[in-house]
Order: sequence, then C-alpha cells, then structure tokens
Amino acid sequence: MNTRHGINWARAQALAQRERQAFVEAMPKSRALSERAARHLLFGVPLHWMNDWSTPFSLYVDEARGASFTDADGHRYADFCLGDTGAMFGHSPPPVARALATQAARGLTTMLPGEDAAWVGEELARRFGLPYWQFAMTASDANRFALRWARAATGRKQIVIFNGCYHGTVDDVFVDLVDGKAAQRGSLIGQVHDLLEATRVIEFNDLAALENALKDGDVACVLAEPALTNIGMVLPEPDYWRQARALMRRYGTLLAIDETHTISCGPGGYTQAHGLEPDLFVLGKPVGGGFPCAVYGFSAELAERAQRAKRDAPPGHSGIGTTLTANMLAMSAIRATLAEVMTDTAYAHMFALAERIESGLRQVIARHGLGWCVTRVGARSEFQFAPQPPRNGTEAGRQLDPELEQIVHLYLLNRGVLITPFHNMILVCPGTSLHDVERLVGAFDECLGELV
Ligand SMILES: Cc1ncc(COP(=O)(O)O)c(C=O)c1O
Repeated sequence: MNTRHGINWARAQALAQRERQAFVEAMPKSRALSERAARHLLFGVPLHWMNDWSTPFSLYVDEARGASFTDADGHRYADFCLGDTGAMFGHSPPPVARALATQAARGLTTMLPGEDAAWVGEELARRFGLPYWQFAMTASDANRFALRWARAATGRKQIVIFNGCYHGTVDDVFVDLVDGKAAQRGSLIGQVHDLLEATRVIEFNDLAALENALKDGDVACVLAEPALTNIGMVLPEPDYWRQARALMRRYGTLLAIDETHTISCGPGGYTQAHGLEPDLFVLGKPVGGGFPCAVYGFSAELAERAQRAKRDAPPGHSGIGTTLTANMLAMSAIRATLAEVMTDTAYAHMFALAERIESGLRQVIARHGLGWCVTRVGARSEFQFAPQPPRNGTEAGRQLDPELEQIVHLYLLNRGVLITPFHNMILVCPGTSLHDVERLVGAFDECLGELV
C-alpha cells in the first residue's frame, strides 16, 4: 500500500476527487463569478496566488464579519484563516469600522499628519517598548524600509536571514539553503540582481552558524521572525534568542524582529512576552484591524544613528515611504485597533480557544494513530506531518506536503471550516466561539477517519 505521512494515498486521491466534485456542485455562483473574472483578470484572479487555494475555482466571498464569512452561494464558514492574519482580530472589528466611517467623511489622505499620528506614536512606544516609529502600507514595505535604515545606519551591506523565512515581497530575503548552500529562490520572478552578494542565510536555532555569519563584522542586521511561521512552524529553542542577541551585540549587528505573524503571542507580540530587545520592530497585517497599513519601531540608539544617516545623505528621494503611507484612514484604523481591539481581554479569549484547538487536534491525531504534531504560538496553531516539531527551515520544509494539505483543507472547507491555504495554519480571533472550535476539530476528525 502506498502511504504518505501515514495516509493511504490511493484513498486520499479518491477523497480529493469526491471533494472537488462536491465543491463544484455546491458553488454555482462562485463558478459563474470565476468564469466572468477570467475574461479580464490575469490568471482569472486579482492576484495570481489567489489560485493557490485547494478549490477547483475561486470561492467568492459575499460578506465577512467577526469570526465568519458567507460565500456567494450563501454558505457560512467558521474562518480560521482570517485573511492569513490580516483579520486576526476578526473581520471588520466594530471599533475599526466606526473609526473608518467617521474618518472617511473627514479626509482620506493629505500627506500631512493629524492628531491620530501623535496618539499612535505614544501608544506604540508604550505597548512595544521602542521609543520611535515610522509607517508603511504593508509589512513587506515595512521590512524593506527597516533593512534600508539598518544598512544606512550601520554603513554595512550584508544582512542575515533564516532558511525558510518569509517577510513579504522583500527581494533581499528570497534566499534559501539548498543542501547547505545559499541559493536564490527560483520562484522569485524578474529579479536581475545577485541576491547572494548581500544576503547570508543560516538555519534557525543554530548559534554556531549565526556566529559564523556575523564574525566578519560586516552584517547590518539579522531580520527574523521570533518563531518561523511561514514554513510550517518552528519555535526557538530555550535560550536561543538570549544567546543570539548576545552574538549580535558582540559583532555590532542590529536585530530586526518581524512580528507580523507572532503578534499572535500577545498584545506586545513575542517581543514583550519573551523579553526580546530588538533594534527594529516590524508589524503589519492586523495592526489596522485589516485595513492596509504597517508600523516599524526603532530603539533610541538606532533612531539616533538613522536620523544622522538621513541628515548626512544628499537631499532627495530616500527610497523610503510611499505617497499614501500613513494616510488619515490608516492612522484612524491603527488607533482604533490599538485602543479597542488588541486588548488583553481579546487575547485571553483567543489563547483559551487556541489551547482547545491544540489539545483537540492532538487527541484526534493520536486516535487515528498518525505521527503528526501540533505546534502553537499563542493564538496561532499548526499541525505538521511529522512526529516532532521541526528545529529549522530544512526540517520544516521536509514535512510539508502541499497535495495532502489541500485535500485536508478542501475537506474542511466543504464542511464550513476555512484554514489558511499555505501549510496548515489555524488562527483564532476574539469572535471565535467554542462551537467554531468544536466544528473544526470534529471536521478534522471526520477527515482523518476517511483518510486513515
Ligand atoms: C512574517 C511576515 N512578514 C511580512 C509579511 C508580508 O506581509 P504583506 O504581504 O502584508 O506585506 C508576511 C506575509 O505573510 C509575513 O508572514
């Protein structure tokens, strides 16, 4: 019998066929909309990777609110994808919707700050512990600008990243370790520069590799998620970050922490929960409650060096910021999110439910005799097709199985439960209910029952 990750593969393929057929039959309106969009949208979708879901054609959304959404054909879903973290505090959180509606009538963009900017700066400093802040439209942009400031402030060219990382569409970080050697990621299209010239890639949780990468004293910064969340999930080993930080200090390298996903760890992100001391701190996606915007913060010392670098540069375009960045709508969304949505109470609810998911999935996996594991960072959980959680990007990459993932995802989707299309990430939001969690665990149980 051909098995994959403990699954009878012939049975899995038959199940996939049945589920695709069920989707087609249940979604006439999504199908019609897909056919209509295909006439004028490249790849038939607004973004080519919207085709990477498990469905035979796009699922069209009618309305999304709180922890659920309704599709064009009227089916309702418990949403554990939550816009891949953009809606980590639920769809259209009422305080954000109200703030946007009020601000929309009072100006959208002026290229000048309003009072919200001052309030947001104060709150970001209080919450995350870094004294100075700047803004961007997306986490990708915030990371790009953070790298630029780090290089400008240190006068160093090199950066270090972790194998298997993703920080958005930042070309510099599209570098992988392949059989232990750095290689530009083949999927990055249209890139004509040699990214290996200024990017070093190492494995996560490997202090010797980090020291080796830093020891020449030419690395501007390490850009990192505190736990890798984009290649399945990889947690830092105990004391890893304290020792890694000490190495960075020894070699004069800055630490840029990208909390865009790990903000699932608490109101101050992984950084506050675990006492990290980054020089740069990046947060995109949910910081505006789902409205496009991102923030990045500087330590006092780096702020001083960054300002000096800008003063010393000739006047003109710095390569930082875009025209609509920090527009009035974005600032009102960030203010409402920080003031009323990203609260301790919201997180307490999310943690309790994520713990239920973690234990529920573990029980189901054990009952079906599979050697899979479940990993969690706060409100974000992930099931992985290996008995032990991976230690680094290479191990995590080996556990991925996009075909099997898609079969499970489609099975869940056909039963009104949506999880992220990439690997097996499951997020909860303040509006998620115990009933939603039970639906997820129940559908996962049924799915494994059919597969094993
Ligand atoms: C850790 C991390 N940083 C940055 C980004 C980029 O976010 P955006 O696509 O909103 O620019 C992502 C996207 O998945 C991410 O996972």
